[in-house]
Amino acid sequence: MIIAQISDTHIALDTPDADRRIEDFERTIADINALDPAPDMIIHTGDIVQNGRLDEYQRAAEVMQRADAPVYVMVGNKDDRAHLRQTFSSASYPTADEGFIAYSIEDYPVRLVVLDTLNPGSNKGEFCAERLAGLEKMLEADTTKPVAVFAHHPPFLVQEGPDPLHFESEEIMQRFCNTLQRFPSIISIFCGHVHRGVAGLVGSIPVLVMPCIATTLRRGDYPEHMKTRPVWHLHRYEPDWGFTTELRIVADR
Ligand SMILES: [Fe+2]
Repeated sequence: MIIAQISDTHIALDTPDADRRIEDFERTIADINALDPAPDMIIHTGDIVQNGRLDEYQRAAEVMQRADAPVYVMVGNKDDRAHLRQTFSSASYPTADEGFIAYSIEDYPVRLVVLDTLNPGSNKGEFCAERLAGLEKMLEADTTKPVAVFAHHPPFLVQEGPDPLHFESEEIMQRFCNTLQRFPSIISIFCGHVHRGVAGLVGSIPVLVMPCIATTLRRGDYPEHMKTRPVWHLHRYEPDWGFTTELRIVADR
């Protein structure tokens, strides 16, 4: 099972680097399309667009349509649930007509549980009682198979940006982590949001945070030859040892 993870494309139409963000996204999709063997799917872990605008989603969708593999989407803090639904309703994206955009992808050796940590109007993550209950329900639905969880906000402190805490409060984050740790079926957690690559743990569950696709928004220093080349994560699952993750740098122009 092969998963291509992309994140934080922040598609915008009226920023000075708008064209560059689209180009970064296009080059990433082309790079994933060139992969042999091809991935089973692409998962975009949120902040698809910058301002939640419908026209931004339409531009992002034009790029995603070029992907050979099915693309699954989820929300980040910059996303708008209604506009995301409106744009991707016909895509391979199983979720209800309203409420949180959280769902599980079945039919693979690993169950993929996609979460919604959006708190509209805030850059920080939220995980309320309703979402906790939804997560428990999804996890309890099948405890026989391993699970990978996808959440936009990392569930631990990352020393990046103005505040290392990426949830609204430590209590919310801790409650979220406690629930995750109650399910031994979870073998990996994959996140975005902080725009730089970070690895950590929730209890004994490995967590990987990927950098952003938008090269103008990346945090941390990159060597000269990588400054204009987006990086993405390729997760390969093998039943004997779980996920291995490769950092892929898109082909040079
Ligand atoms: Fe974000």
